[in-house]
Amino acid sequence: MTILVTGGAGFIGSNFVLDWFKTSDEPVVNLDALTYAGNLANLASLAKDPRHVFVQGDICDRALIDQLLATHQPRALVHFAAESHVDRSIHGPGAFMRTNIEGTFTLLEAARAYWSTLAGEAKAAFRFHHVSTDEVYGSLKPSDPPFAESNPYEPNSPYSASKAASDHLVRAWHHTYGLPVVTTNCSNNYGPFHFPEKLIPLMIVNALAGKPLPVYGDGQQIRDWLYVTDHCAGIRAVLAGGRLGETYNIGGWNEKANIDIVKTVCALLDELRPDPAGPYSRLITYVTDRPGHDRRYAIDARKIERELGWRPAETFDTGIRKTVEWYLANAEWVSQVQSGAYREWVAKQYD
Ligand code: NAD
Ligand code: TYD
Repeated sequence: MTILVTGGAGFIGSNFVLDWFKTSDEPVVNLDALTYAGNLANLASLAKDPRHVFVQGDICDRALIDQLLATHQPRALVHFAAESHVDRSIHGPGAFMRTNIEGTFTLLEAARAYWSTLAGEAKAAFRFHHVSTDEVYGSLKPSDPPFAESNPYEPNSPYSASKAASDHLVRAWHHTYGLPVVTTNCSNNYGPFHFPEKLIPLMIVNALAGKPLPVYGDGQQIRDWLYVTDHCAGIRAVLAGGRLGETYNIGGWNEKANIDIVKTVCALLDELRPDPAGPYSRLITYVTDRPGHDRRYAIDARKIERELGWRPAETFDTGIRKTVEWYLANAEWVSQVQSGAYREWVAKQYD
């Protein structure tokens, strides 16, 4: 048996692939276009591992996907590949529409054609697992209950709108064609291999470089934070036991304001790598807010716990400490991803 993973050289996808082999010998075919966010260094420990087959390619390339499905006959397709950064979607939404909507459509059509060739056990067992986000639900007021799977979709950014569109396509391919799909909508992940354009790794690498820590607006926006390996375990649980056509929210039960996240990162760095120039919090700088910035996300993750027995293993305290320690121990990875393209992005976004 084999699974086909898309986007497995990105942050969550690479953690998923690495984690997969800790509990399984089932081979993984990993299709990734290696955009700025994809990085084979994340998978360096698998370089000589015959269980891992890496293919550089685009999820919009139907012929390639048909060929991978026919050759490897996977029992499941786990779809991570996406353009994933809200700020980039504001500067240039086109790539988000192409990869997140057209790419998902292409995968669904290829999976449908492949699935129709299967019979018996193999047909019944096949799964298309779509990895999505809590951002499709829009923004919560302080007193609103957290997002449940039944919340209406109210996406506010080009990124979340494109993910919402992809979720709708996945739903429709199940209802119209019977494709055996499951969808997971998770909150903000953090942990190793997180590209330093996102809040937590950006704050760590900027602080270590003595650069400003840019907090958007008043810093009181709230996100729920999920340690990445907890997310990977949640995906495995849904892939193995999720009901067909259902969606499952995955969250960390960790609602935090952005400014508190930044202060926690600073305090950990003060402890682990003190700066003779003074506490890292001196670098906190309030900057112009993101347009259309969602105020609060929160996840009600009771359905996945009730049906599949999944709960996060990490608290925020344990997860953020592991994360900061990982970045301190992996300075080479950080400098490798801070290429010219990365520097151009930072200059465009923050100057
Ligand atoms: P990421 O940006 O780190 O990685 C995305 C990966 O997809 C990269 O390796 C990239 O090369 C690849 N990719 C992009 N376009 C492609 C294309 N056209 N064809 C093939 N590969 C392509 O993203 P991530 O943070 O790992 O997110 C993975 C998934 O999880 C995404 O679907 C995202 O929407 C979802 N998600 C992420 C978070 C989060 O906090 N990071 C939260 C909720 C949901
Ligand atoms: P981000 O990591 O981009 O994830 P998302 O927008 O998908 O939630 O941002 C997390 C939060 O941190 C979000 O409210 C925006 C805020 N933020 C900053 O305040 N400063 C920054 O430099 C970045 C990248 C994000």
